[in-house]
Formats: sequence, C-alpha cells, structure tokens
Amino acid sequence: MPCKVITFGIQKGGCGKSTTTGITAHLLREDGYRVLAIDMDSQGNLTELLSEQPSNEFMGNSILEALQTNRIQDYIVPVAENLDLLPANNFLATFPRWIYTGKTYTGENLPFKGNPSLILDQILEPIRDQYDFIVIDTPPSLSEQTTNALCASDYVVVMFECSNWCYSAIPNFMDSVEGARSFGHRDTQVIGILRTLNDVRRSDAKAFNEMIQEDYPEDVFETIITRKAPTGRLSVYGFNENPEIKQALEQYTSFYKELIQRVKG
Ligand SMILES: Nc1ncnc2c1ncn2[C@@H]1O[C@H](COP(=O)(O)OP(=O)(O)OP(=O)(O)O)[C@@H](O)[C@H]1O
Ligand SMILES: [Mg+2]
Repeated sequence: MPCKVITFGIQKGGCGKSTTTGITAHLLREDGYRVLAIDMDSQGNLTELLSEQPSNEFMGNSILEALQTNRIQDYIVPVAENLDLLPANNFLATFPRWIYTGKTYTGENLPFKGNPSLILDQILEPIRDQYDFIVIDTPPSLSEQTTNALCASDYVVVMFECSNWCYSAIPNFMDSVEGARSFGHRDTQVIGILRTLNDVRRSDAKAFNEMIQEDYPEDVFETIITRKAPTGRLSVYGFNENPEIKQALEQYTSFYKELIQRVKG
C-alpha cells in the first residue's frame, strides 16, 4: 500500500485534534506501520505529547525549517520504534509571514516562489516512500498551516466536539477540504467525522451527536469518544510507562479499527 497521509482537523479549538493525532500515530506504530507524525500547529501539543519534551527544545529544528529549506530529512526526529516526528514550536506562527515576505523569523531573506498551499505536499515528496502513514495535526483555524496540511493529505478526519460552535464550524471545514481537493494534487477527501469529548451526562451533547449523524450519515464514525480522565492525562503521562494507558486508549481502539477499514476499503 502506498503511503497514506491523514490530517486531523476542524477550525475550532479544543476538539481533540492533537490527542487523536497522537493516539492514532501510536496505534498505527503498534500495529507495525512505519509512521511520521507532523505537527502543523505552533502550540506544539503533538510535539510535546510524542516527544515528551517541551516544544521549545525544537527551536530551529522544526517543521518550519523543513518547510523553508529543501532538507526535510534533517528535521525528522525519531521518537519511538516505527514513529518519527516533525516537531513544531511557537515560531511556526511566522510561516505565513515568510511565505508572503520571504523573511524568516531570524531575519534571513529566503524568498519563496511557488504555490503557498502546496509547500508541505512538495517537501514530503522525497520521504513518502519511507512511511506507511503520515498523520498531521492542525491548528484551530484556517491558516496556511491548515491549507498546507489539507492539500498534502489523501484523507481528512473531521473532529467534532459535540457543541453548537463546533456544529457551525463543520460546513466551513467541509468546504475547506473540498477546496483542497480541487486545488491540490492528492484528491483530498473526508474519511470520516469523529465525535469526541462527549459528556455522557449532557443531553445537548446527545442532541448534537444525533444532528451530525443525520447531516452526514455516510461520514460519521460509529465510535463516539467520551470524556475520560486517563485520555486527558495522556498529556501528562504520555505513551511510555503510563500506568493507565489501557484505559486512556480503550475507546480509541474501535475508532482505529474503523479508520483502517475505511482506508483499506
Ligand atoms: N477523550 C478525552 N477525555 C478527556 N480529555 C480529553 C479527551 N480528549 C482530549 N482531552 C483533553 O482536552 C483538551 C483538548 O484536547 P486537544 O488538545 O487534543 O484538542 P485540540 O483540538 O488539539 O485543541 P487545539 O484546538 O487547541 O489544538 C486537552 O487538554 C486534552 O488533554
Ligand atoms: Mg491541538
């Protein structure tokens, strides 16, 4: 199977994008796949989750520099067997400024020529063959970081945290994926909508779950991820020597099965 690139996104904050990207990377590697995880969010949450280091540790050695040079290999960090990371930090926020002015955050002049949304897709070209899966975490906005991730992806998992504001973000995000599909070269498509962070005690959450199911019956994954303290605490314990790893990943294993089935199907 040729390398598949999957982005996790929604232009709304706190919907479980970073958590789900990290868990999916972990489950893929446990399944024996060769995985590259790319952090396209300047918050660096995926970076910290997978590397268990502060994202500032990667200053000058991150996805930003990979995007600005032709040397992506130099910035890949191995974090576990079969799992590599292209880390991010605060300076990724200067990515758009560099695209449009040619100035890097260090003041260097590095003029950019080409299509501003296809930079990531292009830099991945020489390394795609080294991986079975590339997973990408995105910021909670429709920035250049997000459009680059979408245009570099075969598939997009749309994250739906069952609230009204996330509900109103969905159609816009679907349009963004459609835009990437027509604009990019990868035939980008939604592989599913994942309902996350469900509070089982809230009836409005249940209502939003049902609404999204009615609106996108073909797209929603059957698995619904609820709020669980061990899953939230992955940001504290990580994946290694985590005393509650089984509980943290429990619900995600059935999402993972559905995802793989769709990718293969
Ligand atoms: N299933 C879950 N149960 C409990 N807590 C969770 C769960 N999933 C994620 N969290 C926690 O909820 C918060 C938001 O999750 P996360 O950071 O993954 O979302 P995000 O969409 O990446 O946010 P942002 O838009 O800021 O990038 C984090 O503190 C995370 O640890
Ligand atoms: Mg995040």
